[in-house]
Amino acid sequence: MREISNVKFDEGFQMNTAHILKKKRDGGEFTKEEIEYFVSSLVNGSISESQIGAMLMAMYIRGLTYKETVDLTRAMVFSGEQLQWDLQWQGVLADKHSTGGIGDKISIVLAPILAACGLKVPMISGRSLEHTGGTLDKLESIPGLMVDLDVCQMQKALEHAGCFITAATQSLCPADKTLYRVRDITCTVDNIHLIVSSIISKKVASGTKFLVVDVKVGRAAFCKTEEMGRALARDLIRVSAELGVTTKVVLSRMDEPLGRCAGNALEVIEAVQCLTGDMSPQISRIVLVLGVNLLVMTNICKNEAEAEKLIQKVIKEGSAMDRFCRMLSVQGVNEETITRLVAGEQVLPMANYTTDIPAVETGWVSGVDAMIIGQVCQWLGACRRTTSSQIDPSVGVQVHRRVGDQVRWGDVWLTVHHSSPSLSAQVYDSLTKAITISNTEVKGQDIIIEVIHQ
Ligand code: URA
Repeated sequence: MREISNVKFDEGFQMNTAHILKKKRDGGEFTKEEIEYFVSSLVNGSISESQIGAMLMAMYIRGLTYKETVDLTRAMVFSGEQLQWDLQWQGVLADKHSTGGIGDKISIVLAPILAACGLKVPMISGRSLEHTGGTLDKLESIPGLMVDLDVCQMQKALEHAGCFITAATQSLCPADKTLYRVRDITCTVDNIHLIVSSIISKKVASGTKFLVVDVKVGRAAFCKTEEMGRALARDLIRVSAELGVTTKVVLSRMDEPLGRCAGNALEVIEAVQCLTGDMSPQISRIVLVLGVNLLVMTNICKNEAEAEKLIQKVIKEGSAMDRFCRMLSVQGVNEETITRLVAGEQVLPMANYTTDIPAVETGWVSGVDAMIIGQVCQWLGACRRTTSSQIDPSVGVQVHRRVGDQVRWGDVWLTVHHSSPSLSAQVYDSLTKAITISNTEVKGQDIIIEVIHQ
């Protein structure tokens, strides 16, 4: 355990967890020392799981001031190592992060694209949070893939592939590793201060210098309103700037699932298709907006048009796919698995059963409720329901219709992949209600709401 700082108190005063817990419960503002004490106790194990849960709930209900958020983020960075990379890479260390959604496989697609464009992408990613899928859980559906890389493996990945995707570990942002796990099961995820400290601490610890955060807004996002998305964006940008990272935020819609499927292995297959250039329009739009912003921020490209061309070129010429394969190789996947995965052969676990859900009306799709779909995926086993839940990589859904599409009575709009022989009537019913159909024409909205910077 590393000491965060030398915490000094008045003579005779002994700081303890109950003291700080009570302070936040009663609406007090933490000092920097109290926050450091809390974060140290997460790492040295002197705080119990119930106290962590109580503290998170107190923070969630009482909130944190801006200063507390900065102090918490900084203490979380110093809870483990801070990665340092070659000086010659300082101008090109860049990353993206998402606040989480349904069907969001963008990190798996974008990291190798950015690497192929000349950036170095040291990505520390997350697991599923509540009903939202986690990039690490998706990647772990690839046989042999490791997500707990040590520093030597990360260095090798940046040299050979230009990117890696790893987890917070006992040595890298361990405080986030614990808080993330407990937030997931204590209904304390959707809080701006906790989201900011979680995301920015990982990015600062990873040594990244430029960041684009995809803040999801909508029905299935942690930010239900644009107002909350903007408030989160403001704090992400300010807190990261204080800690030396230049950040832009893209607000994007999360009302319907992103892309053609949700579920761990299914999303990896879709990500591989995206790297061949076969992307749904929504994925293509998000990949371009996030990628273009990073390429311009880092001066790899002079302007947006040049950046867009470069992204299209690295996909078309196969160099993005090559970076993806190299990343998998450094992260432990054997060459045969990589070759077969890229060739579209079945190397990932697939569910034994599928059930088609037909439309019960004719018209234009006016809504596909990503929240219901996310909850069904969680129920099927794609996300954790308790800290000890095992993820089932094979389950999920394929979404065949999106908002604005025409649909006829009886058309299959969703296919569910499940591992038990039958789908419960309750799940079937809720999925039937997840689509809304209008008898007048509906136009899909742009998935991007706004790009926000300082
Ligand atoms: N992603 C994170 O890393 N943390 C959060 O709190 C939410 C999304």
